Order: sequence, then structure tokens, then C-alpha cells
Amino acid sequence: MTQQITLNDGNKIPAIGFGVFQIPADGSTYTAVKEALEVGYRHIDTAQAYFNEKEVGQAIKDSGIPREEIFVTSKLWIQDFAYETAKSTIDATLEKMGLDYLDLYLLHQPYGEVEQAWKALEEAKAAGKIKSIGVSNFTPNFWKQFIPNFATIPAVNQVEFNPYFQQKELRDLLAKDQVTIEAWAPLGQGNKELFEEPVITKLASKYGKDVGQIILRFANQEGIVVLPKSTKKSRMTSNKDIFDFELTADELAELRALDKGKGSHNPDAPGVGEYLLTAYDIHAND
Ligand SMILES: NC(=O)c1ccc[n+]([C@@H]2O[C@H](COP(=O)([O-])OP(=O)(O)OC[C@H]3O[C@@H](n4cnc5c(N)ncnc54)[C@H](OP(=O)(O)O)[C@@H]3O)[C@@H](O)[C@H]2O)c1
Repeated sequence: MTQQITLNDGNKIPAIGFGVFQIPADGSTYTAVKEALEVGYRHIDTAQAYFNEKEVGQAIKDSGIPREEIFVTSKLWIQDFAYETAKSTIDATLEKMGLDYLDLYLLHQPYGEVEQAWKALEEAKAAGKIKSIGVSNFTPNFWKQFIPNFATIPAVNQVEFNPYFQQKELRDLLAKDQVTIEAWAPLGQGNKELFEEPVITKLASKYGKDVGQIILRFANQEGIVVLPKSTKKSRMTSNKDIFDFELTADELAELRALDKGKGSHNPDAPGVGEYLLTAYDIHAND
């Protein structure tokens, strides 16, 4: 069984999941998720704004794997951040995916009617429609702004994380509430510079692993859930084969030193919320 991490609400989450951002809903998501399940993933990360929830649900159903053995995450898009809308979106998502419950549901971004949307998630959790609830792209600023107004502390904050952006301030802030960090872009979205980083290529040679495996194992040893995405079955397989070696304390220190303290996306930048609201129209095909 995949390594599991216990969340602050007592539920368990597989330490590695398969991400489906930017995989089109033209049958490609269905194929990718089916292959990911075949090679052993038991945790899938999708979102309303990826437009592929339906294919994820179909692939899970057709896999024949018992529902309780697969951890399924989706996310609510900001367009639907109002209390009543969020409630109906949760029901619509379950129906679209053909599921009775989601294992984890996140507020995808920290903009708009965040408190109202969170209230809807809390109620859906109480009603058994969602097992765990969390947030995404909450920087330290957004965390300090919103969390005091939430009745429930999020179980998860899904943020950009890889050796070049290690989120030190956020991790210190979240540690006291045992909030689990999930890494989006754990492979830096395939960033060439990262894949040629000498510290990492040296460790890959030492352990007989590839660069992706070193990057993912580093995050894993830091206690972070990783969600690598690939449409290639060989990479899906290698990306999850990270548990048969262990980086030493000195090697972890070398990898920690690669942090540049900045990612590809800054949720705090002015205008990001407004931009994102216009960037996707999740109801275009309703
Ligand atoms: N919450 C958010 O706002 C947010 C934002 C972004 C992503 N996410 C989640 O996080 C997941 C992962 O992030 P991501 O998809 O942006 O980036 P990623 O997983 O860091 O990188 C994916 C890219 O790396 C390539 N790749 C995969 N495995 C590789 C390997 N072993 N060696 C070399 N290249 C490799 C993939 O290409 P191929 O497909 O060709 O292999 C793809 O181009 C997403 O799918 C999504 O579920 C969440």
C-alpha cells in the first residue's frame, strides 16, 4: 500500500497522488487516470476548473477498484464561491463524477466569497459528502486573513512546492495546526533548469534513480504530499517508485539550500484574483 499521512482531522491521505491539470477531457484524462490506477496510484487530484472531473470519475468506476481504496480530490472554483452556489456545486460534482463522496475538497484559490464557500464545505463535510476539507494557494498573508474566521482549520493547503520554492514561511505557520501541505508542480512543471540541477543529478547517480524520483522523494521526506502529473505511463510508473531509498540528513540539507524562495505563481500579486476569475468560465458548457 502507498505510504499514508494522517491529516489533522484524523483521516489518512496517500503520500503520492496523480495530478490531472492540463490533461484535456477528450478521452485523454480517462486514459491517463486508468493507466495511473493500473500502475498503482490510489489518489487522484482534479478540479472543477480542469474541466475533466467527469472523465476522472468514469475511469475510477471502470477500473473496478473498490471506491474506498481510491482517494479522490477535487476543488471548487472561485466563480462558485457563494454559499448556496457552492452547496449546489458540491452536489453537481458528485453527480458528474458518479461518486457518493469526495475524500478531499479544496477551495481552489483565496479570492472572492471565501468564508461563505468554506461554510458550504464545512456543511458538506458534516453531511458526509466530503471526508476532508482544505484550501489551496493560501500564502501566509491569506492564511492569516481568513483562517481566524473559519470554524474548522483546513486539513490541507495545496500550494506550489519544489526544490526551488520550498515555502519555508508557510510551512512554519501551518505546522502548529498540523496542516498537511500538498505540492502542486512538485516537478517544477518539467523545468529544465531543475532537471539539470547538479545537486539533484549527483543524487540520481548515487541512488540509481532518475531526477524526478529524487525531487519527489525530497518533498516526501519533508512530509509533503506530491501530485506529479504525466501522460506517459513510463513516467507515471517511475514517479511513484520513490520509497526504496532514503536521502541522508546532509543530502536533505543540500536540497534545502536550492530554495530560491519564489515560485512561478504569486497569489499575493495585485490583480491575480480578478485575472483568474476571467481566465476560466467553468459554466461555459452548462
Ligand atoms: N491547486 C492549484 O492551483 C494547482 C496548480 C497547478 C497544479 N495543481 C495540481 O498539481 C498537479 C501537478 O502539477 P503540474 O501538473 O502543474 O506539474 P508537475 O507535476 O510538476 O509537472 C508536470 C510536467 O512535468 C512532466 N513530467 C512528469 N514526470 C516527469 C519526469 N519524471 N521527468 C520529466 N518530466 C516529467 C510532464 O510531462 P508529461 O505529461 O509529458 O510526462 C508535465 O509537463 C497538477 O496536475 C494538479 O493536479 C494544482
